[in-house]
Amino acid sequence: MSNLDQALGQAIDRYRHARPASERIFNDATLVLPGGNTRSVLFFAPFPPAMVRGEGCWLWDADGHRYLDALGEFTAGLYGHSEPAIRAAIAEALEDGLSLSSHTAREGALAREVQRRFPAMELLRFTNSGTEANLMALASACAHTGRRKVLVFKGGYHGGVLAFAGGGSPVNVPHEWIVARYNDLADVLQRVAPHRGELAAILVEPMLGSGGCIPGEVDFLHGLRMLADECGALLVFDEVMTSRLSFGGRQALLGIRPDMTTLGKYFGGGLSFGAFGGGADVMQRYDPRHSGALQHAGTFNNNVLTMAAGLAGLTQVLTAEALDALNARGEALRARLNALLAERGVAMQFTGLGSLMQMQSLAGPLRSADDLAAGDDRARALVFFELLARGVFMARRGFMALSLPFDEAACDRFAQALEEVVSAQQAVLPRR
Ligand SMILES: Cc1ncc(COP(=O)(O)O)c(C=O)c1O
Repeated sequence: MSNLDQALGQAIDRYRHARPASERIFNDATLVLPGGNTRSVLFFAPFPPAMVRGEGCWLWDADGHRYLDALGEFTAGLYGHSEPAIRAAIAEALEDGLSLSSHTAREGALAREVQRRFPAMELLRFTNSGTEANLMALASACAHTGRRKVLVFKGGYHGGVLAFAGGGSPVNVPHEWIVARYNDLADVLQRVAPHRGELAAILVEPMLGSGGCIPGEVDFLHGLRMLADECGALLVFDEVMTSRLSFGGRQALLGIRPDMTTLGKYFGGGLSFGAFGGGADVMQRYDPRHSGALQHAGTFNNNVLTMAAGLAGLTQVLTAEALDALNARGEALRARLNALLAERGVAMQFTGLGSLMQMQSLAGPLRSADDLAAGDDRARALVFFELLARGVFMARRGFMALSLPFDEAACDRFAQALEEVVSAQQAVLPRR
């Protein structure tokens, strides 16, 4: 057994022994949920911690451990766990009753706030998740163009049935996919060439999120805009994660106007949310005043709690300044962590943009999902368990999304914890 395997085994043993309550909760759940789990991304062996409480940027597990929450609910927890404006809006909405069976004033108000940030969404509709938003965007593109093929990218993630890690998944919806390499226009052009007249949509994340926080290069994303125009296909920007990178998302930073945009995560104030929208020519097809209008259903599309929480967050908390400050904090933290790893000669790095980042177990340049294959996941696992032991929580794969309450002191704490881990495990972590 290598030293790294041994160190990882010991870290996992320490983790397990310190969390009997979490293990019990997990074991009980395995009797009714496959692998004790109802959301695949949350599982890691031997069992994930069961969380019982959150406040600000802190979490507590069932075993009484407190963690600095660097995961931020995979970006949906942008506001932290107890934003007062959001709690007040939810409490107020509760007073008026939960399921009102009709239009309310709230959905129009929330849609106006979303559109103010994303003017390319001339008309939009709400869904219950980012997955659903992407399903609807693709269905809209196929209906609008009368075509079936969709260009996506290896390593892309647009929902559980729209997942392209490794190129695809047996549970993906059956669109006619063309899967190209991210950040590689030559590969895109070659794969699309035989199908230019059949392409309904290009679905792309402006930064691969789940696929490793690999930013889309500016020329690549502009190239996709041009390709969509040339082919008569719709360019769909999945900004479910990247919308937080500025007031108008990454599309505003890039100066690219996609034909359709999909959103999710924090826009519902921490409650389940999704939205798809774009040019009026596409979206007015859903106008039920017109004969032959397309159907877009969803019992909870305008549920009052999400509408109220989302509106409170956007109107009272998430100013352009607050977002810019958070992303600047993320940039600074990433630079600091990378400087530490470089200084200690550890072949690891944090990739990403703004407040979104991912710990990688290799040091070189990363442009596409294939480039990640050379990383040693055992090193990342070791750092993950060692950070947990020091009260720092991130995704097992190394993903982090800072929340608004994750302030300078939290950044200091995180950097200090990583420094301790590197000092303790320097001998077994990969060297540059
Ligand atoms: C870029 C991207 N698109 C879509 C989704 C799916 O959103 P949801 O989990 O709300 O269905 C995710 C979720 O992580 C995502 O990161």
